[in-house]
Amino acid sequence: MRTLANGTTEVGVGLISVGWMGQLHSRAYRNLAYAYPDLGVRPRLVHAADTSEDRRREAVDVLGYERASADYRAVLEDPEVDVVSICAPNFLHAEMGIAAAKAGKHFWIEKPVGRGETETAAVAEAADAAGVVTSIGFNYRHAPAVEHLRELIAAGTLGRITNVRGHMFADYSADPRGARSWRFVRELAGSGVLGDLMGHLVDLVHYTLGPVAEVSALTSTVYAERPELPMGTGTHFALIEGGQMEPVENEDYAGMLVRLSGDAVAADAVGTLEASRVAVGPRASYGIAVYGTNGSAIWDFEQLNFLRVSTPLGTEDPGYTTVMAHPGMGEFGRFQPGAGTSMGYDDLKVIEAKKFLSAVLGRSSDASNIHDALSAARVVSAAERSAAERSWERIPAEPGTTAALTAPQEA
Ligand SMILES: NC(=O)c1ccc[n+]([C@@H]2O[C@H](COP(=O)([O-])OP(=O)(O)OC[C@H]3O[C@@H](n4cnc5c(N)ncnc54)[C@H](O)[C@@H]3O)[C@@H](O)[C@H]2O)c1
Repeated sequence: MRTLANGTTEVGVGLISVGWMGQLHSRAYRNLAYAYPDLGVRPRLVHAADTSEDRRREAVDVLGYERASADYRAVLEDPEVDVVSICAPNFLHAEMGIAAAKAGKHFWIEKPVGRGETETAAVAEAADAAGVVTSIGFNYRHAPAVEHLRELIAAGTLGRITNVRGHMFADYSADPRGARSWRFVRELAGSGVLGDLMGHLVDLVHYTLGPVAEVSALTSTVYAERPELPMGTGTHFALIEGGQMEPVENEDYAGMLVRLSGDAVAADAVGTLEASRVAVGPRASYGIAVYGTNGSAIWDFEQLNFLRVSTPLGTEDPGYTTVMAHPGMGEFGRFQPGAGTSMGYDDLKVIEAKKFLSAVLGRSSDASNIHDALSAARVVSAAERSAAERSWERIPAEPGTTAALTAPQEA
């Protein structure tokens, strides 16, 4: 890192893997200065790595990295790289996260961190030992409407929270011609929707309500085989006609019954959380509905800029108010000057980049961290055990997370 003549701190960025998320992290670093000029940080895109030559070319020619390598270790060894984004498929996360920590590089890593609890714990141990800053791709928690929901819950506006319903319903593999990308191979991805989507939902619950303490789960696989997609080509949304059919090795759907911890804001609340990658209709319906003794509130990513809040118990005309995100809510004002002009998915990643780099510079501690990833991974792995053994599983509390842990005020 170096200080430029105008006092701005230049941070050298390394990127590992130039797929969908690698491109998005890169755009987030680029847009950071527009949304947060007062932060005094200028990310410099230094070095990208990908095993695919096309993706390396894209990193330099389109995204603007100064150089690109096939081996990710070249990024970690680059003295001009201060922070690293790890956007590789899940099976590489543990190896890369541990290597980044050992190289003394702060890292922003995509979820799920590895193929389950054991790998996430190994990355957490390495990051803690090295004292590097970590941040996780839990983007949905940054939506201004989610921040508002969190505040309503913490302030006790909804009363004592009694239950939560959450869903992550995607259609990216609803079509049987949908590609068998690395996401469907156990060795490369670990679990299916549990790691890919449910982890996001668990983080939303942890962030707004507090830790999940108990889970009972079931899973199902709707399509047993799919046409193969070579690594580093296309996306998991690709449709392939007449391709080589290969087995799907993990679940398309997962459902969980959960009980929250007695220490949570929503102490002992219960709920249902579901995830699917084969839902027909919802495209990316990622939502959470929270019910309390005085009211309820509902958010869905497909309506990112809106939060539906019920009228309080006892109101003569019961119903819901749709609250629009506005400059006073979360980070909305960094992106748009007034309600009704929408923020988008990319903006959530700009907020994530800002929180990550602020933490790296020691200016704030509101970024998600590797212990949030471990906390979510413990729930996901417990759900896998539960589904396999038809059992209830308890989840030990994970210290060091940013989960909501304070007791609500009386309504
Ligand atoms: N936060 C979110 O909302 C979100 C959304 C999508 C994906 N993700 C996560 O991001 C990660 C990447 O997903 P994606 O959709 O971008 O994948 P992708 O398939 O689009 O890209 C993966 C890239 O990794 C590269 N790669 C493979 N082996 C490599 C190696 N040894 N070294 C360097 N690069 C290598 C591939 O060539 C490819 O370019 C996954 O962990 C996924 O779960 C998060």
